Amino acid sequence: MINATTQLYCIFGKPVSHSKSPLIHNALLTHYGINGAYLAFEIDLIRDGIKAMKTLDIKGASVTIPFKTDILDELDEISTDALEMGAVNTVVNRNGKLYGYNTDCMAAIRPLKTYGIEGKSFAVLGAGGAAQALIYGIKKEGGRVIIINRTKKRGENLAEKFNCDFLGLENLKELDSLPADVVINTTSVGMHPNTRNTPISPELLTPSMIVMDVVYTPVNTQLLKDARLKGCETIDGLSMFLHQGAAQFKLWTDINPDITIMRQAAENGET
Ligand code: ATR
Repeated sequence: MINATTQLYCIFGKPVSHSKSPLIHNALLTHYGINGAYLAFEIDLIRDGIKAMKTLDIKGASVTIPFKTDILDELDEISTDALEMGAVNTVVNRNGKLYGYNTDCMAAIRPLKTYGIEGKSFAVLGAGGAAQALIYGIKKEGGRVIIINRTKKRGENLAEKFNCDFLGLENLKELDSLPADVVINTTSVGMHPNTRNTPISPELLTPSMIVMDVVYTPVNTQLLKDARLKGCETIDGLSMFLHQGAAQFKLWTDINPDITIMRQAAENGET
């Protein structure tokens, strides 16, 4: 029941209509009997979202493309690891002060750990907030990273920050295959509604590679389809999405949520 004491949670992004965050968080709020509601807000400037959180006393927010890095300047406090990553995907409102955290890193590194990270090389496609969280986690676990990004300057800056290599899209034309054991897409390429698109030509994949996509709408992206046809092992974005959401819910409510409830909500619900 929504009444005068219902607490509001939300996601800020652009685009945001594809997001399954409202489905998983509303399912959890209901399941744990919390008088709350979670809505999706598509906005142009994250500053406006931050202002709204303070004005309307929104208790918590998820932050997605393209705001994960821009939001750093707008918060009152940022956790040490989110600051080192340079990316925030979670905001907690404590008595009008806004605290930033990153739950993407832990959630993305989790499935990679089962294959081993130390000593392996990772081609990371993209140089935004999701890429930063992943690169931070991979480097911490002893992996090597090659960043591949459309905008050269942005990719080069990130490579310098994290002491990685950089490849521009034009360099890819000269390669037979990507020089990596693991390939990870952190861009929005392939996301609904442009589901035919893929961030990398299938010719650059080889059967020994592990291919991961952070896109989860659809779960079976064109990149992962191409990778499976090549014989690669694949990791889809749904597990990362669920675990980053679970960590958000814990930050907001202090409850460690049941992942199966979240999975059911994400798989059954219409966005
Ligand atoms: P976030 O910080 O939330 O991860 P972002 O800062 O918008 O989002 O970053 C998205 C990444 O996806 C960027 O690296 C972007 O490339 P640019 O640096 O060239 O902008 C990449 N990206 C988005 N759309 C893309 C596309 N159509 N082709 C290639 N890369 C794309």
